[in-house]
Amino acid sequence: MEIKSYIENNKNRFLNELFDLIKIPSISAIDKYKDSVREAAIFLKNQFENLNLDNCEICETDGYPIVYAEKIKDKKLPTVLVYGHYDVQPVDPIELWDTDPFKPIIKKTDIHPEGAVFARGSCDDKGQMFMHLKAIEVLKNTGGIPCNIKFMIEGEEEIGSDNLEIFVKENKEKLKCDIILVSDTGMIDKNTPSITTGLRGLAYLEVELTGPNRDLHSGLYGGSVANPINSLAKMISSLHDKNNKVTIPGFYDKVINYSQEERKQGDLIPFSINEFKNSIDIDEVQGEKSYSTQERRSIRPCLDVNGIWGGYTDQGSKTVIPSKAYAKISMRLVSNQNSKEISKLFIDHMKKITPPGMKIKINEHHGGEPYITSTNSQAFLAASKAYESVFEKKPFAVKDGGSIPIIAQFEKILDVKTILMGFGLDSDAIHSPNEHFGISNFYNGIETISNFYNFYSSKV
Ligand code: BES
Ligand code: MN
Ligand code: MN
Repeated sequence: MEIKSYIENNKNRFLNELFDLIKIPSISAIDKYKDSVREAAIFLKNQFENLNLDNCEICETDGYPIVYAEKIKDKKLPTVLVYGHYDVQPVDPIELWDTDPFKPIIKKTDIHPEGAVFARGSCDDKGQMFMHLKAIEVLKNTGGIPCNIKFMIEGEEEIGSDNLEIFVKENKEKLKCDIILVSDTGMIDKNTPSITTGLRGLAYLEVELTGPNRDLHSGLYGGSVANPINSLAKMISSLHDKNNKVTIPGFYDKVINYSQEERKQGDLIPFSINEFKNSIDIDEVQGEKSYSTQERRSIRPCLDVNGIWGGYTDQGSKTVIPSKAYAKISMRLVSNQNSKEISKLFIDHMKKITPPGMKIKINEHHGGEPYITSTNSQAFLAASKAYESVFEKKPFAVKDGGSIPIIAQFEKILDVKTILMGFGLDSDAIHSPNEHFGISNFYNGIETISNFYNFYSSKV
């Protein structure tokens, strides 16, 4: 049978199976969901068994397990390792969801007139990862799996993949492969495919600034002691100059500068600044001088406050000068910045600009390194052909602004490159309320991935 017709004939079942996975609230960040996170791992193991894969295992770690499965057809054939994650982000603010985040429901949207699945994880990454399981089913029923396949699906991507890194280091032989295949990124729009050739890295720190040893009456003390919230706000605002460049000394030292020629190539990628502004309801964009919006969110590093708190934030007013102020600050990094080095530059600089009389404490959260890959590998060409066969357009090579820290580690530990075949859209609202995934993206993704295997193994 043809790949297209097999998908057509099994459409609804594919979606129902995805729903069963999405219904499991596998939020890795919150301990009270820990049974559910495990349940998602077991669900996947059963799915792999149903697909008749071999060595289907729940691999225990110090955190959530890694689900592994494989089909080794012939040692002489190429081996593809599929990576994805079954954990999802927390749902809050829950009151902004129109429907229950763990009761998947199909609704039509302007962008997805044929419908989209609304639920946490529908796009990031259950919907995208599940396409890979269905692609295997499709291949089995349409001419066979043309190469060796290994699956490694983790449950800690949204909290930093620390245990996966250990697992990869300890299982180099088991994970031996020629290429890693991942669907956990995006495409340009529903009809314009892209292959992600870059991911940003991440350095994430938490700052605690302490002034007086206790909260003070703001009448008795106001004006006479430095207020840590005022001071922290000042310190943070000094981290960008008037051109919106990050002022931390050395921050840009290792950043790759792209040639005019390469930047022109980037400008050819379809992008509407008006649609961008409208989609998030802003009148004006902002960012590093002399770079386009697309460059600012892909090939340039940035620094952002993710959260800031301190003092009195409850109902009404309380007149107080707080003892402490806090902020969570992240920096998205590009090649060849290093997250440890950048964290150190940040810490040294913050200490230097701490006002006299205040104490600063800085904790480092998990980070990750940036990743780039070329557009002339055999796997890239196979992926390109696969997209073209479904979307009737060649995919653009795009650098994404998000991070998947394990991808750079795969290269470092296993010496294997990754092909990032994403099918999500920016408007899918990953990590936000009302996350969704277009059902046409889901079916087109299954078809594209199936075709990839055949092109990569040169069966067609
Ligand atoms: N799938 C995303 C990353 C992503 C999304 C990359 C879209 C490119 C395009 C992933 O699950 C994610 O959310 N990563 C985190 C990093 C992690 C350490 C929490 C991120 O980018 O914030
Ligand atoms: Mn993801
Ligand atoms: Mn995510």
